[in-house]
Amino acid sequence: MRAIAICGSPRRGGNTEQLLQHCLDRLAAGGVSGSLVRLAEKRVEHCTGCAVCKETADGSCAVDGDDFADIFHELTTADIVLVGSPVYFGSATPQLMALLDRAGYVSRAGGGLLSRKLGGPVVVARRAGQNFTYAQLLYWFMISDMVVPGSSYWNMAFGADPGDVQRDTEALTTLDRFCDNLLWLANRLK
Ligand SMILES: Cc1cc2nc3c(=O)[nH]c(=O)nc-3n(C[C@H](O)[C@H](O)[C@H](O)COP(=O)(O)O)c2cc1C
Repeated sequence: MRAIAICGSPRRGGNTEQLLQHCLDRLAAGGVSGSLVRLAEKRVEHCTGCAVCKETADGSCAVDGDDFADIFHELTTADIVLVGSPVYFGSATPQLMALLDRAGYVSRAGGGLLSRKLGGPVVVARRAGQNFTYAQLLYWFMISDMVVPGSSYWNMAFGADPGDVQRDTEALTTLDRFCDNLLWLANRLK
C-alpha cells in the first residue's frame, strides 16, 4: 500500500503542506508509506481540451514537456490519493486544477485509471471558502470513480500564516479520523 499527497499550494512549507504531512504521518503509523508532491516545485500546464487522450486512451497527454506524466504515473500507481489546496478567492489553486483537469480527463479517457482508488480532499483558508473548495475537489474524486471515506467533520482547517493550522486541533482530529478510515478501508480491501 502506498499513498500520494498532492499539495496545490504555491507556498512551500505552508498550511496545506503541513496538513497533508500530518495525514501522511498518520497513514505511515498505520503501515502505509507515502510521498508528498509539491506543485510549487513542479510545472504542470493546463488542459488544452484537445481530446487527443480520448484517441490514444493509454494514459498519455498530448501536452508534453512538463511534469504531468511523472505525477500522473505516481497517481495511477498509488493506492491512496490525497489532494490538498489553500482557498484562493473561494476556489482551489489554478496549479492544482491544472493537474486535476488533465489527470481526470486522461484517467477517464483511459477507461478509469483512477477508479476505486481511496482518498479525499484537504483544504485550508484564513477565514472563508473552505466549503466551496472542499466541494470543488470532492467533485473531482467522485467523477473519477474514487472512494472517499468520511470523518468526524469535513477535511478543512483555519489558518493564514504557515503553521497556524497546528493550533486548529479540531481540524487535526478530523484528519486523524479520516486517515484511520482510509486505513480501515484499505485493510479490508486487501
Ligand atoms: C491569492 C490568495 C487568495 C486567498 N483567498 C482566500 C479566501 O478566499 N478565503 C480565505 O479565507 N483565505 C484566503 N486566502 C488565504 C489562504 O487560504 C491561507 O493563507 C492559507 O492558509 C494558505 O495556505 P498555504 O500556507 O498552504 O499556502 C488567500 C490567499 C491568497 C494568497
